[in-house]
Amino acid sequence: RIVYVYGQFVPEEEARIGLFDRGFLFGDAVYEVTAVIGGRMIDNDLHLDRLERSLRELAIPLGLSRKEIAGVQAELIARNALRDGTIYLQVSRGEADRDFLYSDALAPRFVGFTQAKTLTGTKAQQDGISVDLADDPRWHRRDIKTAMLLGQVMAKQAARARGFDDVWLVENGLVTEGASSTAHVITGDGRILTRAASRATLPGCTQRALALLCAAEDLAIEERAFTPNEAQAAAEAFQTSASSLVMPVVRIGDRVVGNGKPGPMTRKLQALYLEAAG
Ligand code: PDD
Repeated sequence: RIVYVYGQFVPEEEARIGLFDRGFLFGDAVYEVTAVIGGRMIDNDLHLDRLERSLRELAIPLGLSRKEIAGVQAELIARNALRDGTIYLQVSRGEADRDFLYSDALAPRFVGFTQAKTLTGTKAQQDGISVDLADDPRWHRRDIKTAMLLGQVMAKQAARARGFDDVWLVENGLVTEGASSTAHVITGDGRILTRAASRATLPGCTQRALALLCAAEDLAIEERAFTPNEAQAAAEAFQTSASSLVMPVVRIGDRVVGNGKPGPMTRKLQALYLEAAG
Protein backbone atom coordinates (compact mmCIF):
# COMPACT_ATOMS: atom_id res chain seq x y z
CA ARG A 1 0.00 0.00 0.00
CA ILE A 2 1.06 3.57 -0.63
CA VAL A 3 0.27 5.82 2.30
CA TYR A 4 0.50 9.57 2.86
CA VAL A 5 2.66 10.81 5.74
CA TYR A 6 3.62 14.39 6.47
CA GLY A 7 3.42 15.57 2.87
CA GLN A 8 4.78 12.50 1.10
CA PHE A 9 3.42 9.37 -0.55
CA VAL A 10 5.50 6.36 0.55
CA PRO A 11 5.13 2.55 0.75
CA GLU A 12 3.60 1.73 4.16
CA GLU A 13 6.78 -0.09 5.24
CA GLU A 14 8.67 3.18 4.92
CA ALA A 15 6.13 5.32 6.77
CA ARG A 16 7.46 6.89 9.98
CA ILE A 17 5.51 8.97 12.44
CA GLY A 18 7.01 10.87 15.34
CA LEU A 19 7.28 9.47 18.87
CA PHE A 20 6.30 12.89 20.22
CA ASP A 21 3.32 13.31 17.92
CA ARG A 22 0.50 14.54 20.18
CA GLY A 23 -1.91 12.27 18.34
CA PHE A 24 0.09 9.33 19.68
CA LEU A 25 0.70 10.70 23.20
CA PHE A 26 -2.65 12.39 23.93
CA GLY A 27 -5.10 11.37 21.19
CA ASP A 28 -4.77 15.05 20.26
CA ALA A 29 -5.84 14.47 16.66
CA VAL A 30 -8.94 14.44 14.48
CA TYR A 31 -9.83 12.06 11.68
CA GLU A 32 -12.26 11.31 8.89
CA VAL A 33 -13.30 8.17 7.05
CA THR A 34 -14.75 8.47 3.55
CA ALA A 35 -16.31 5.56 1.67
CA VAL A 36 -15.05 4.72 -1.82
CA ILE A 37 -17.34 2.80 -4.17
CA GLY A 38 -16.24 2.02 -7.70
CA GLY A 39 -13.26 4.33 -7.27
CA ARG A 40 -15.46 7.30 -6.30
CA MET A 41 -15.58 9.02 -2.92
CA ILE A 42 -19.06 9.13 -1.35
CA ASP A 43 -20.38 12.25 0.45
CA ASN A 44 -16.83 13.59 0.63
CA ASP A 45 -17.89 17.25 0.80
CA LEU A 46 -19.74 16.46 4.03
CA HIS A 47 -16.67 14.67 5.41
CA LEU A 48 -14.37 17.58 4.57
CA ASP A 49 -16.89 20.02 6.12
CA ARG A 50 -16.80 17.96 9.29
CA LEU A 51 -12.99 17.67 9.24
CA GLU A 52 -12.75 21.46 9.04
CA ARG A 53 -15.22 21.79 11.90
CA SER A 54 -13.32 19.30 14.10
CA LEU A 55 -10.06 21.16 13.42
CA ARG A 56 -11.72 24.48 14.26
CA GLU A 57 -13.21 23.18 17.52
CA LEU A 58 -9.75 22.03 18.67
CA ALA A 59 -7.93 25.05 17.21
CA ILE A 60 -5.66 22.88 15.05
CA PRO A 61 -4.51 25.05 12.11
CA LEU A 62 -4.04 22.53 9.27
CA GLY A 63 -3.34 25.26 6.73
CA LEU A 64 -4.40 23.21 3.68
CA SER A 65 -7.26 24.08 1.37
CA ARG A 66 -10.12 21.67 0.77
CA LYS A 67 -8.82 21.23 -2.73
CA GLU A 68 -5.42 20.17 -1.41
CA ILE A 69 -6.99 17.74 1.07
CA ALA A 70 -9.22 16.23 -1.63
CA GLY A 71 -6.13 16.06 -3.84
CA VAL A 72 -4.37 13.86 -1.28
CA GLN A 73 -7.42 11.59 -1.17
CA ALA A 74 -7.62 11.36 -4.96
CA GLU A 75 -3.91 10.56 -5.13
CA LEU A 76 -4.29 7.80 -2.51
CA ILE A 77 -7.13 6.25 -4.52
CA ALA A 78 -5.11 6.44 -7.75
CA ARG A 79 -1.82 5.14 -6.35
CA ASN A 80 -3.53 2.21 -4.67
CA ALA A 81 -5.96 1.58 -7.56
CA LEU A 82 -8.69 1.52 -4.90
CA ARG A 83 -12.12 0.48 -6.20
CA ASP A 84 -14.04 -0.22 -2.97
CA GLY A 85 -13.14 0.60 0.59
CA THR A 86 -12.38 3.63 2.72
CA ILE A 87 -9.92 6.49 2.95
CA TYR A 88 -8.73 7.47 6.40
CA LEU A 89 -7.34 10.96 7.06
CA GLN A 90 -5.85 12.09 10.36
CA VAL A 91 -4.53 15.45 11.46
CA SER A 92 -2.71 15.68 14.77
CA ARG A 93 -1.83 18.93 16.51
CA GLY A 94 1.86 18.30 15.91
CA GLU A 95 5.00 17.17 17.67
CA ALA A 96 6.51 18.57 20.89
CA ASP A 97 8.10 17.24 24.07
CA ARG A 98 5.36 15.72 26.22
CA ASP A 99 3.34 18.44 27.91
CA PHE A 100 -0.43 18.69 28.35
CA LEU A 101 -0.26 22.32 27.32
CA TYR A 102 0.52 23.09 23.72
CA SER A 103 2.04 25.96 21.84
CA ASP A 104 0.18 27.64 19.00
CA ALA A 105 3.32 27.32 16.88
CA LEU A 106 3.12 23.53 16.34
CA ALA A 107 2.99 22.22 12.79
CA PRO A 108 0.00 19.87 12.35
CA ARG A 109 0.82 16.36 11.16
CA PHE A 110 -1.36 15.11 8.32
CA VAL A 111 -1.48 11.40 7.38
CA GLY A 112 -3.77 9.23 5.29
CA PHE A 113 -4.23 5.72 3.97
CA THR A 114 -6.71 3.55 2.13
CA GLN A 115 -8.34 0.30 3.22
CA ALA A 116 -9.74 -1.98 0.53
CA LYS A 117 -13.05 -3.50 1.63
CA THR A 118 -16.29 -4.58 0.01
CA LEU A 119 -18.94 -2.17 1.30
CA THR A 120 -22.01 -3.19 -0.69
CA GLY A 121 -23.85 -6.48 -1.10
CA THR A 122 -22.12 -8.07 1.90
CA LYS A 123 -23.79 -10.71 4.07
CA ALA A 124 -24.22 -8.13 6.83
CA GLN A 125 -25.82 -5.72 4.35
CA GLN A 126 -28.21 -8.45 3.22
CA ASP A 127 -29.09 -10.14 6.51
CA GLY A 128 -28.53 -7.35 9.03
CA ILE A 129 -26.44 -7.31 12.19
CA SER A 130 -26.96 -7.64 15.95
CA VAL A 131 -26.11 -4.81 18.34
CA ASP A 132 -25.60 -4.94 22.08
CA LEU A 133 -26.66 -2.08 24.37
CA ALA A 134 -24.02 -0.62 26.71
CA ASP A 135 -23.45 2.44 28.86
CA ASP A 136 -21.81 5.21 26.86
CA PRO A 137 -18.33 5.52 28.41
CA ARG A 138 -17.17 8.56 26.40
CA TRP A 139 -16.45 12.22 27.09
CA HIS A 140 -18.79 15.17 26.55
CA ARG A 141 -17.61 16.41 23.14
CA ARG A 142 -18.62 13.54 20.90
CA ASP A 143 -19.45 16.03 18.15
CA ILE A 144 -15.71 16.31 17.47
CA LYS A 145 -14.27 13.38 15.52
CA THR A 146 -11.14 12.84 17.58
CA ALA A 147 -8.74 9.91 17.41
CA MET A 148 -9.42 9.37 21.14
CA LEU A 149 -11.42 6.17 20.61
CA LEU A 150 -10.73 3.92 23.60
CA GLY A 151 -14.36 4.08 24.79
CA GLN A 152 -15.52 2.80 21.42
CA VAL A 153 -12.80 0.14 21.31
CA MET A 154 -13.77 -1.20 24.75
CA ALA A 155 -17.50 -1.13 24.04
CA LYS A 156 -17.10 -2.90 20.69
CA GLN A 157 -14.74 -5.51 22.08
CA ALA A 158 -17.08 -6.26 25.01
CA ALA A 159 -20.06 -6.54 22.62
CA ARG A 160 -18.11 -8.94 20.40
CA ALA A 161 -17.20 -11.06 23.45
CA ARG A 162 -20.94 -11.24 24.23
CA GLY A 163 -21.66 -12.51 20.73
CA PHE A 164 -22.90 -9.28 19.10
CA ASP A 165 -21.70 -7.72 15.86
CA ASP A 166 -21.66 -4.16 17.20
CA VAL A 167 -22.98 -1.97 20.01
CA TRP A 168 -25.30 1.00 20.55
CA LEU A 169 -24.38 3.28 23.43
CA VAL A 170 -26.84 4.54 26.06
CA GLU A 171 -26.72 7.58 28.33
CA ASN A 172 -29.39 8.93 30.70
CA GLY A 173 -31.86 6.33 29.42
CA LEU A 174 -31.44 7.33 25.76
CA VAL A 175 -29.51 5.80 22.87
CA THR A 176 -26.74 8.20 21.91
CA GLU A 177 -25.35 6.45 18.80
CA GLY A 178 -23.54 3.35 17.64
CA ALA A 179 -19.92 3.01 18.72
CA SER A 180 -18.87 4.01 15.18
CA SER A 181 -22.22 4.76 13.52
CA THR A 182 -25.44 6.76 13.77
CA ALA A 183 -28.38 4.80 15.23
CA HIS A 184 -31.86 4.91 13.67
CA VAL A 185 -35.16 3.17 14.33
CA ILE A 186 -38.40 3.09 12.35
CA THR A 187 -41.67 3.18 14.28
CA GLY A 188 -44.72 1.03 13.53
CA ASP A 189 -46.29 3.97 11.66
CA GLY A 190 -43.25 4.39 9.43
CA ARG A 191 -41.46 7.34 11.03
CA ILE A 192 -37.67 7.25 10.97
CA LEU A 193 -36.21 8.41 14.29
CA THR A 194 -32.69 9.82 14.53
CA ARG A 195 -31.21 11.80 17.35
CA ALA A 196 -30.86 15.55 16.71
CA ALA A 197 -27.36 17.00 16.45
CA SER A 198 -25.78 17.98 19.78
CA ARG A 199 -22.52 17.52 21.64
CA ALA A 200 -23.74 14.05 22.67
CA THR A 201 -23.15 12.50 19.24
CA LEU A 202 -21.07 12.82 16.11
CA PRO A 203 -23.08 14.45 13.32
CA GLY A 204 -23.06 11.59 10.79
CA CYS A 205 -22.34 12.41 7.17
CA THR A 206 -24.13 9.28 5.96
CA GLN A 207 -27.12 10.20 8.14
CA ARG A 208 -27.13 13.72 6.70
CA ALA A 209 -26.94 12.50 3.10
CA LEU A 210 -29.71 10.00 3.76
CA ALA A 211 -31.88 12.69 5.37
CA LEU A 212 -31.58 14.80 2.20
CA LEU A 213 -32.56 11.80 0.06
CA CYS A 214 -35.53 11.08 2.33
CA ALA A 215 -36.72 14.68 2.13
CA ALA A 216 -36.72 14.44 -1.66
CA GLU A 217 -38.84 11.25 -1.38
CA ASP A 218 -41.27 12.76 1.12
CA LEU A 219 -40.21 10.26 3.78
CA ALA A 220 -40.56 11.57 7.32
CA ILE A 221 -37.45 11.69 9.50
CA GLU A 222 -38.09 12.80 13.04
CA GLU A 223 -35.08 14.14 14.90
CA ARG A 224 -35.50 12.95 18.44
CA ALA A 225 -33.75 10.69 20.89
CA PHE A 226 -35.22 7.27 21.65
CA THR A 227 -34.88 4.87 24.57
CA PRO A 228 -33.38 1.38 24.41
CA ASN A 229 -36.93 0.00 24.97
CA GLU A 230 -38.29 1.98 22.02
CA ALA A 231 -35.43 0.71 19.88
CA GLN A 232 -36.09 -2.89 20.86
CA ALA A 233 -39.83 -2.51 20.17
CA ALA A 234 -39.30 -0.70 16.85
CA ALA A 235 -40.60 -2.10 13.57
CA GLU A 236 -37.15 -1.74 11.98
CA ALA A 237 -33.70 -0.48 12.93
CA PHE A 238 -30.53 0.40 11.08
CA GLN A 239 -27.25 2.22 11.54
CA THR A 240 -25.31 4.42 9.14
CA SER A 241 -21.61 5.19 8.69
CA ALA A 242 -19.07 5.66 5.93
CA SER A 243 -17.80 2.12 6.51
CA SER A 244 -21.19 0.37 6.77
CA LEU A 245 -23.41 2.70 4.65
CA VAL A 246 -27.05 1.84 5.52
CA MET A 247 -26.73 -1.29 7.69
CA PRO A 248 -29.88 -3.15 8.85
CA VAL A 249 -29.99 -4.00 12.57
CA VAL A 250 -32.10 -7.09 13.25
CA ARG A 251 -31.35 -7.69 16.91
CA ILE A 252 -30.89 -5.19 19.74
CA GLY A 253 -29.67 -6.64 23.04
CA ASP A 254 -31.84 -9.63 23.94
CA ARG A 255 -34.68 -8.65 21.55
CA VAL A 256 -35.24 -9.45 17.90
CA VAL A 257 -36.29 -6.38 15.88
CA GLY A 258 -39.51 -6.95 13.90
CA ASN A 259 -39.36 -10.44 12.39
CA GLY A 260 -35.58 -10.62 12.61
CA LYS A 261 -35.07 -9.69 8.96
CA PRO A 262 -34.25 -6.29 7.45
CA GLY A 263 -37.58 -4.49 6.98
CA PRO A 264 -39.04 -2.93 3.81
CA MET A 265 -38.26 0.67 4.77
CA THR A 266 -34.65 -0.19 5.57
CA ARG A 267 -34.38 -1.93 2.20
CA LYS A 268 -35.79 1.14 0.50
CA LEU A 269 -33.30 3.42 2.29
CA GLN A 270 -30.40 1.12 1.38
CA ALA A 271 -31.47 1.24 -2.28
CA LEU A 272 -31.96 5.03 -2.21
CA TYR A 273 -28.52 5.55 -0.73
CA LEU A 274 -26.75 3.18 -3.12
CA GLU A 275 -28.52 4.67 -6.10
CA ALA A 276 -27.34 8.15 -5.12
CA ALA A 277 -23.81 6.82 -4.43
CA GLY A 278 -23.60 4.97 -7.72
N1 PDD B 1 -17.14 6.32 12.28
N2 PDD B 1 -20.84 8.13 15.24
C1 PDD B 1 -19.59 7.75 15.52
C2 PDD B 1 -19.16 7.69 16.94
C3 PDD B 1 -18.71 7.39 14.48
O1 PDD B 1 -17.47 7.01 14.77
C4 PDD B 1 -19.18 7.42 13.14
C5 PDD B 1 -18.28 7.07 11.97
C6 PDD B 1 -20.50 7.82 12.90
C7 PDD B 1 -21.08 7.90 11.51
O2 PDD B 1 -20.52 8.97 10.79
P1 PDD B 1 -20.40 8.95 9.21
O3 PDD B 1 -21.74 8.59 8.64
O4 PDD B 1 -20.03 10.32 8.87
O5 PDD B 1 -19.36 7.94 8.88
C8 PDD B 1 -21.30 8.19 13.97
C9 PDD B 1 -16.17 5.99 11.26
C10 PDD B 1 -16.73 5.25 10.10
C11 PDD B 1 -15.00 5.28 11.93
O6 PDD B 1 -14.68 5.68 13.04
O7 PDD B 1 -14.40 4.38 11.35
